Amino acid sequence: MDEIEAKKRIEELRDLLNYHNHLYYVESRSEISDQEFDALMRELQDLEERFPQWEDENSPTKRVGGDITKKFKTVQHQYPMLSLSNTYSEEEIVEWETRIKKLTDKQIDYVCELKYDGVAIGIQYRDGALFQALTRGDGVQGEDVTTNVKTIKTIPLKLKGDYPSEFEIRGEIFFTLEKFEQLNKEREKLGEPLFANPRNTASGTLKLQDSAEVARRGLDCYLYGVYGVEDRFEGHFEAVKKCEEWGFKIPSIEKRYIEKVKTIDQIIEFIDYWDKNRSALPFEIDGIVIKVNSFELQKELGFTAKSPRWAIAYKFKAQRVKTRLESVSYQVGRTGAVTPVANLTPVQLGGTMVKRASLHNSDQIEKLDLHEKDRVYVEKGGEIIPKIVGVDVENRPKEAKKIKFITQCPECRTPLVRIEGEAQHYCPNDTGCPPQIKGKIEHFIHRKAMNIDGLGSETIDLLYQEGLVKNIADLYELTFDQIVGLERMADKSANNLLKSIKESKNTPFEKVLFGLGIRYVGETVAKKLAKAFKSIDNLSKATFEELIEVDEIGEKIANAIIEYFSNEENQKLIERLKEHGLNFESIQDENISNKLGGKSFVVSGVFDAFSRDELKKMIERNGGRNVSSISKKTDYLLAGDKMGPSKLKKAEDLGIPIITEDDFIQMIS
Ligand code: IVH
Repeated sequence: MDEIEAKKRIEELRDLLNYHNHLYYVESRSEISDQEFDALMRELQDLEERFPQWEDENSPTKRVGGDITKKFKTVQHQYPMLSLSNTYSEEEIVEWETRIKKLTDKQIDYVCELKYDGVAIGIQYRDGALFQALTRGDGVQGEDVTTNVKTIKTIPLKLKGDYPSEFEIRGEIFFTLEKFEQLNKEREKLGEPLFANPRNTASGTLKLQDSAEVARRGLDCYLYGVYGVEDRFEGHFEAVKKCEEWGFKIPSIEKRYIEKVKTIDQIIEFIDYWDKNRSALPFEIDGIVIKVNSFELQKELGFTAKSPRWAIAYKFKAQRVKTRLESVSYQVGRTGAVTPVANLTPVQLGGTMVKRASLHNSDQIEKLDLHEKDRVYVEKGGEIIPKIVGVDVENRPKEAKKIKFITQCPECRTPLVRIEGEAQHYCPNDTGCPPQIKGKIEHFIHRKAMNIDGLGSETIDLLYQEGLVKNIADLYELTFDQIVGLERMADKSANNLLKSIKESKNTPFEKVLFGLGIRYVGETVAKKLAKAFKSIDNLSKATFEELIEVDEIGEKIANAIIEYFSNEENQKLIERLKEHGLNFESIQDENISNKLGGKSFVVSGVFDAFSRDELKKMIERNGGRNVSSISKKTDYLLAGDKMGPSKLKKAEDLGIPIITEDDFIQMIS
């Protein structure tokens, strides 16, 4: 076969494969067998390998993945990716519709849609080919996940018909419940930890570096927006319908996944219909979205800072099921806090099998008046672990015993304590209780603390079991011979780990302080303490009064700090860490001036000379304050390139001075 013949056959095969792919995944029918399809795909792969000059980024062979992306590029969205305003109340939907109606005498059409519970995606098409797919990111810039999105079979790589030369599709990427269950079954077989819910799994999958794994997992997508076509169609509904002709899978009109209506009663009926019937859907939804159809009216209504005025989301209340309490087990965290967990008779809830529920603390058990083998109501909110929200008291056997909170640590048998005024029970054996020891080490090495690479929780487990590490100071005494040969620890990983431990000695004081894991001393508190006391010696000698004088340090934190430093074991630990050369003093002269005299800044966008973080540091070091969002009280908006238009508009509306990077440098020089 010569080059020209190959080109002809390659094109033929691509058309054929695109056609059968669309038929199978979008229209759910097929004209050829799987084997025949595979044979065509192999023929194409073979030809593309032999004739690389005819390679095409959007060939159906890209569907199977294979490219590895080390780091996703950050790219600016052409249209900012906003969110929707939400409500749980039908009255608010009525109020919203009344507000819209007042704006015009014309008949208003609305589009009711499902609110898919997945991850948002923006896919740009240029000249009929998929060009780029971006995640939402911060709404202004997203991550370029094109390679992974190309593996999703319901997303066309090449379009058909009279498509515009440039436009963008917005949609939601998700797992069907069937796929999700299948994935978890596979993981169960392999002894791998199960995925918690379809939404998080979809989000994690979309960001996998290995696109072949993404292809294998089988994501799906529904479109809910078309941008850049406003002059071609009357409104949203017409644009979505047209997408079907271009080759997209659109939400089914017959199944009422999307519906054009004219009245508020029809909107409410749509909401009620799906509130009742959503559990029969093959994927998860968390509400209904109502949109004004006309593009012209949408433009007139415009946006608030965060969301369009022409759309609103009605969110369903959490789903609830009844099941039986089998037992209560207790988990001990890094700080010694003991959390009760309810083990339940497994039950299906909102697409996932629920086996456990958090009970938070002993007060919660009291409040629920929980008894052995109680029938309990379980609800799934946004969080992964569901909650017990009530007990079916009427069906409780008379002889059922009350659940009594344990009095000893389930891990080390030390009697538990409960600090007055607190809900949590603690195991006070913080230097001898295994989950506390391991938890403290995990916290210490965390990216936000000492940032020690190459130590996962399994390796920490091993190091602890082997008696090599019993506290954080032991890490600095590990030798190559001790760790090489441990499971999954070859020469290279052992060297990398030792290098990372050594490098961590340069970590600044505030992060070391955070890494110590003093109760209630989180990242921000550690920063405040480091700034106020400058060194661990000063901090350890600080009195209660001196501590509570510091901004945001209350009695609870002050007491925890005093308790930490009064413990001899902790004092020894710090001495050892000092000997290993960790930073226990703030770099002196942190503040180089007070030129900004307490003025508040919002830093936004991309800058030429400095990164956003560097600018923020400069603001602090010159006596200014960083705040995250613009309000009346903001003194300056330090604006870079590619900044979100809504922030800019808000600053303009509030009359806040907008300064450039150069203006800022002038201010502090
Ligand atoms: S319209 C300007 N329609 O819900 C916002 N969003 O907060 C346009 N979502 O992250 C969004 N189903 O990914 C729209 N039918 C639907 C949707 C939908 C799910 C997601 C979307 C966004 C969030 C909105």
